[in-house]
Amino acid sequence: MKVVKIGLLGLGTVGGGTVNVLAKNGEDISRRIDCQVIVSSASARDITRSRICNTDDIELTTNPQDIVNDPDIQIIVELMGGEEPAKSLILQALANGKHVVTANKALIANHGNELFAEAANNKVTLAYEAAIAGGIPIVKAMREGLSANSIEWLAGIINGTGNFILTEMRDKGSAFEDVLAQAQALGYAEADPEYDVEGIDAAHKLCILASLAFGMPLNFEHVYTEGISKITPLDVTYAEELGYRIKHLGIAKRAEKGVEMRVHPTLIPEKRLIANVDGVMNAVVVKGNAVGTTLYYGPGAGAEATASAVIADIVDICRQLDAPLGSTVPALGFASDKLYERPTLSIEDVTTAYYLRLSVEDKPGVMAAITKILADNGISIEAVQQKEPEQHGANAQVIILTDSVVEKSLITALEQIESLDSINQPAVRIRVESLQ
Ligand code: NDP
Ligand code: HSE
Repeated sequence: MKVVKIGLLGLGTVGGGTVNVLAKNGEDISRRIDCQVIVSSASARDITRSRICNTDDIELTTNPQDIVNDPDIQIIVELMGGEEPAKSLILQALANGKHVVTANKALIANHGNELFAEAANNKVTLAYEAAIAGGIPIVKAMREGLSANSIEWLAGIINGTGNFILTEMRDKGSAFEDVLAQAQALGYAEADPEYDVEGIDAAHKLCILASLAFGMPLNFEHVYTEGISKITPLDVTYAEELGYRIKHLGIAKRAEKGVEMRVHPTLIPEKRLIANVDGVMNAVVVKGNAVGTTLYYGPGAGAEATASAVIADIVDICRQLDAPLGSTVPALGFASDKLYERPTLSIEDVTTAYYLRLSVEDKPGVMAAITKILADNGISIEAVQQKEPEQHGANAQVIILTDSVVEKSLITALEQIESLDSINQPAVRIRVESLQ
């Protein structure tokens, strides 16, 4: 049987998981592709450390160049993370005529246009299924399964760590920092967990999904990004009383004046399937103009779940090794000369409904003043509730659900509301999406 040699750059959570899954399922994988996939070498910073996988048959090195320049290795699997040295190593591997598999969404979102062009120049594949939503084969679904459709919008829970934190806080009342530490111990979090918590990792993934959906070059700078660090248990509770869940969503939408790309906490009606996606699980809803709404669900992070996507890319490459050049699916699902730049909408021009929480002095006339300002700015109210103060003299909480409004009108209204004498704290505002 033909043997395909793999070189792993990185032997941490995903690298170790990849070795383990290949060991566990190697026979079945060989049967699928009629060749044997062998991890012949792997690099790490410290090769004396114990690993989650057996490394007895793997040549270990601290110098990734040894692997990238090894003529016996056909596929380089980059699982180091970060921009450098990962980018230079991938470029060198591509120049050496090797196929590359990566799980590095930061690298693809920021440098994918250049890297895909380099792969095409060298007539090799740069595959990245594991970069988005862990084990969910969403790249394949978008690029191939939905290719008959014009995609109208997609919305996803695309960061496992963030969803795990929100779920544990809601279900167990756990403290934010404690749950983040658990996510790190489980290998879910990025090397810098700010990427998870502040929405940067989700923004990387959303940027790639938007390009796959709308056939445009990667444009990370235009993704609006908000994380989960300001979500309070109070808002989680009030949202649930109104029949909503708060989820951190990445949303890409084809709007009349441009493409929306945004990542932020969002209230979703609790009856939507995606509102019930908990823990490290991810889910992406994609609305195509032929198929309608489809949902893709699965583990968004973790060693073997992510390895599943990494190995699916390796399998695809093995199947193509003897195929005629040019027969592979383009990296973003459209031939590179058919990727069109599209205008992106700034967040001030995006239209959504809102959840507002206003902390107000418990005095007559406050509610009338607030509703007048909203009406003066053309903002309709869908629902309103007043929570009486728990102690005499404390602030009351006014919860408002608005109808859809252009963000800049809402900002103007909130500035006027916050200048009222009876309001002494900034308003909390969270976008609301019906996802229909
Ligand atoms: P880890 O930190 O667990 O592993 C990184 C590996 O790369 C380690 O073996 C490390 O060596 C090695 N490494 C890191 N920097 C360097 C460097 N400068 N030079 C040489 N070796 C280096 O990361 P993960 O496995 O969690 O993540 C890997 C990639 O996969 C990232 O791009 C991440 O975003 C992505 N990803 C991760 C998922 C997950 O669930 N963890 C899911 C989907 C994608 P050493 O072990 O000696 O420190
Ligand atoms: N840190 C990422 C997450 C890993 O939690 O989703 C998977 O991309």
